Amino acid sequence: MEIDKKIIKKYNKPVPRYTSYPPANHFSDDITKKEYLENIQNSNYKNPKLIAFYVHIPFCHKICFYCGCNACNIGKGLKVKPYIDALKKEIKSVIKHIDKKRLVSQIHYGGGTPNAIDAEILAEINQLFFDEFQFIDKPEIAIEVHPGYLDFKYIDKLKKAGFNRFSVGIQDFNTEVLKKVNRKPSIIPVHEIVDFIRKDNISVNLDFIYGLPGQNVENFSETIEKAAKIRPDRLVTFSYAHVPWIKKHQQILEKLGMPNADEKTEMFFAANKILKKEGYKPIGFDHYVLENDELYTALKNNMLHRNFQGYCSRQTTGQVYAFGVSAISQISGGYFQNTKETNDYIQKINNDILPIEKGMLLSKNQRITGEAITELMCNLKLDFNLLSNKINISVDEIKQNISLNIKELNEFKNDELLTFSQEKIEITEKGAFFIRNIAASLDPNYSFENNKYSKSV
Ligand SMILES: C[S@@+](CC[C@H](N)C(=O)[O-])C[C@H]1O[C@@H](n2cnc3c(N)ncnc32)[C@H](O)[C@@H]1O
Ligand code: SF4
Repeated sequence: MEIDKKIIKKYNKPVPRYTSYPPANHFSDDITKKEYLENIQNSNYKNPKLIAFYVHIPFCHKICFYCGCNACNIGKGLKVKPYIDALKKEIKSVIKHIDKKRLVSQIHYGGGTPNAIDAEILAEINQLFFDEFQFIDKPEIAIEVHPGYLDFKYIDKLKKAGFNRFSVGIQDFNTEVLKKVNRKPSIIPVHEIVDFIRKDNISVNLDFIYGLPGQNVENFSETIEKAAKIRPDRLVTFSYAHVPWIKKHQQILEKLGMPNADEKTEMFFAANKILKKEGYKPIGFDHYVLENDELYTALKNNMLHRNFQGYCSRQTTGQVYAFGVSAISQISGGYFQNTKETNDYIQKINNDILPIEKGMLLSKNQRITGEAITELMCNLKLDFNLLSNKINISVDEIKQNISLNIKELNEFKNDELLTFSQEKIEITEKGAFFIRNIAASLDPNYSFENNKYSKSV
């Protein structure tokens, strides 16, 4: 697919990624620990009933220059024990308030690099949940891993600890690109890692990023060709999000020279073409899965959903209770984020203070707008009657909440990014690439002026 350069220029604007609605930069400092606890208790009586846990391990052996995550250098490892002690204490103090009759559908470890620490520690944390809760049949116990610090013995330990989904951060197979961004390549050939993980029927995802120094359409296509041959169950091509005003180390990439928006677009579509040819099905805009994957079934049935942990189906989605530095709980009443500073986190927990720093209690209006944006971003269409049935809110009320601007919709339509009628908005293949812009147009609180988001391309 070719996209006119004028269209890329027109829409390459700073827009939210909408991993939450409202986006995290709208969270306020006024949220209290008391509100957090009350909301956890109330969440027991609200939908979704299922429970999802998120655990943040911030440590990394070295910091990749592109990294946008909450990560810190593990150094000599002196902070690991105090951090893990604090993390366990936080988990124990919060789960006391969760109704044990509810079932757990997901546990997700993110970072940082969860495999930067001993697998035994991760097993101990899992055990805290296993001891206290009952789980659905086939829950997802997922972990993000860096292949530069992974061997077969460690993978076996993770499997024994209960992990049944591995997300491996590859970013690029090209070692020159990895060197430029300060990243250690995989120790073991990636196809061997994937085969080894999958032999027990365990699902593997591979992460890639386009837009890094040294990448071009040719070498990124080679990377994706190689990835497709390895046949992971899932694969993501993330657009590099450049936010040096938040992540200072990203300034280094500016000196190295990054691909421009036109080149990034070309890389995205080259990868998209290769993956589709190899039988992968696009999910949302930048995720791909094999045809037999449950996310593809969810997409076909208009039941694709997502939370901070990533995509899921409406059947498996749970309220998210998150632990660790910078972790964001996403429960029925709102969002609650822990402090982003590791020392502050440890200190607060040691002093018996819940480390909640920011958050937002959601109004009914925000919840409706959030559902409409999630629907559009997951299923690439917003069918008002379908959404009305899913969330039990009338079509009129949905339409009153979102910002439905006919002039703007017509402009997207003229640029062939979507079609629309009274009943639904449907995103075209080209439009999926600008889904963040289209979602922003439905967001009554989005303002292009002075915003601090990464650009859409
Ligand atoms: C927490 S990291 C994954 C685990 C492990 N630390 C690693 O690097 O392999 C999660 C993913 O976020 C993506 N990511 C990190 N920084 C990004 C950025 N600035 N823009 C886009 N994607 C980014 C990477 O693809 C990475 O695999
Ligand atoms: S990309 Fe992964 S390994 Fe690199 S700094 Fe970020 S979290 Fe750490």
